[in-house]
Amino acid sequence: MRKKVTVVGGGFVGSTTAQRIHDAGLADVVLTDILEGVPAGKALDMAESAPILGTDVHAAGISTAGGDYKETADSDIIVITAGFPRKPGMSRDDLLKANHDVIKGVVEAVVKLSPNSILIIVTNPLDAMAHAALKLSKFPKNRVIGMAGVLDSARMSSFVAAELGVSVENVHSFVLGGHGDDMVPLPRYSTVAGIPLPALLSKEKIEAIVTRTRKGGAEIVNLLKTGSAYYAPSAAVFEMVEAILKDKKKILPCAAYLEGEYGLSGLFVGVPVKLGAKGIEQIIEIKLEPEEKAALDKSSASVRELVTVLGL
Ligand code: LAC
Repeated sequence: MRKKVTVVGGGFVGSTTAQRIHDAGLADVVLTDILEGVPAGKALDMAESAPILGTDVHAAGISTAGGDYKETADSDIIVITAGFPRKPGMSRDDLLKANHDVIKGVVEAVVKLSPNSILIIVTNPLDAMAHAALKLSKFPKNRVIGMAGVLDSARMSSFVAAELGVSVENVHSFVLGGHGDDMVPLPRYSTVAGIPLPALLSKEKIEAIVTRTRKGGAEIVNLLKTGSAYYAPSAAVFEMVEAILKDKKKILPCAAYLEGEYGLSGLFVGVPVKLGAKGIEQIIEIKLEPEEKAALDKSSASVRELVTVLGL
């Protein structure tokens, strides 16, 4: 039987995510949005591309304006992208309260219909939104995951590959912490064909890449003017969905609910996890230098502030 993935939010991130899943034939896709017509139109358009692409999965699109999520029932994974996007000059955190209301409505509706699903949270500020989703869903922590580290690492890898003039396939980047301006790229654990970054690039070059990675989201927002990134974010979600549906046991940086790991408790923070059929099957702890740990603590403190504002 085919797997089923619901993508909540038919904006650029949601619809591109749905398209990637559909085009790869990974699962049936249900795209939802509060707009009328748009999700149905995008799904129909995807379905009409299927004969060309040779994919037999189904795409459906529904409007949830009336609060009806029936079509999403029994999803294996629910990707939540719904929310207000970032505008130029706006931090991810400005979105906090508005998007918390969105998440609340969505999570309460979808988990009733898909009680065994895995939730992947993309809506910003995503560490705090993942926290809200965990509390609202009452799901075990392995089934609520935030997407961020895969995106941030991909950005870093693209910059490293460009700087060195090597294949992106050679580069593995490592980014920890919250998906905010103080995220923690770790050059020491970032490698090119197994060679740690500090052996290949000067301190200054590495610092420039770290800074650009931290501001990667804003760089795109400033260029697009009317929205935020979606190609790389949707590619990141796709990698996570694929790892889960194919039970790949793939180690990826994701926002996970920590209970003592990395000295942090009761908080979603980006860390390396093993993704498989059960969602987060393991949180992988690595040893950090005092400076790295301090950076992680700083990043987590920013997430904690948001969660405290929301009273979670
Ligand atoms: C970004 C937004 C999605 O990093 O947070 O592009």
